[in-house]
Amino acid sequence: MIKGVIFDLDGVLVSTDELHYKAWKRLAKEIGISDFKREDNEKQRGVSRMESLQIVLDKGNKSYTEEEKEEFAERKNNYYKEMLKELDGSAVLPGALETVKLLKEKGIMTAVGSASKNAPDILEKIGLLTYMDKISSGLDTTRSKPDPEVFLVAADKLGLPPQDCLVIEDSAAGVQAAKAAGMKALGVGPYYFSLGADYEAENLAVSINWESILNEV
Ligand code: BG6
Ligand code: MG
Repeated sequence: MIKGVIFDLDGVLVSTDELHYKAWKRLAKEIGISDFKREDNEKQRGVSRMESLQIVLDKGNKSYTEEEKEEFAERKNNYYKEMLKELDGSAVLPGALETVKLLKEKGIMTAVGSASKNAPDILEKIGLLTYMDKISSGLDTTRSKPDPEVFLVAADKLGLPPQDCLVIEDSAAGVQAAKAAGMKALGVGPYYFSLGADYEAENLAVSINWESILNEV
């Protein structure tokens, strides 16, 4: 039986994906990479900041020192944080708040499991922080999805064994991480049908049979 639900953040609870894309696009242009596109950005879903940077750099043909890469990642994060200043409750994705409330009414514990180091700030800004029992983010982990670390840390913080947790994800790397953690996964978002999740829903606003998902053994 499921006793805890672990939500991915970007693309599941909040529409920050576009802001990540704009910030990477700006950096890419500045360093002479003009063909960084939306489809490249799709590959950045769920992966860490430094791995996301590598996806940008792979579009060019130059090599950079570790110091230069650190500077690029920091520059992108500053652009991203500048845009986050405008973030508020209107960025919460359809059905996300209602889902969190519904699960809490059913006595389910809630957590966030996100690669983002900005996760606590973002949750605060969009008004979801108080609905989460625990947060596991890029600040708590060293290994990136598809490694299960971020979800295992979340389960541990909730005091639940992995098999009692369900993960909600919008990325293939995140679904793989959930499986590697021994957890079931619900795939949502524009690619929900191709993530390899146990359950699928276009988004959290559509009708989802929670009774069946939560009680399946
Ligand atoms: C994930 C996003 O949630 O967080 C990735 O899907 C992003 O695209 C990653 O790279 C790291 O985010 P941040 O905020 O720490 O740069
Ligand atoms: Mg995501």
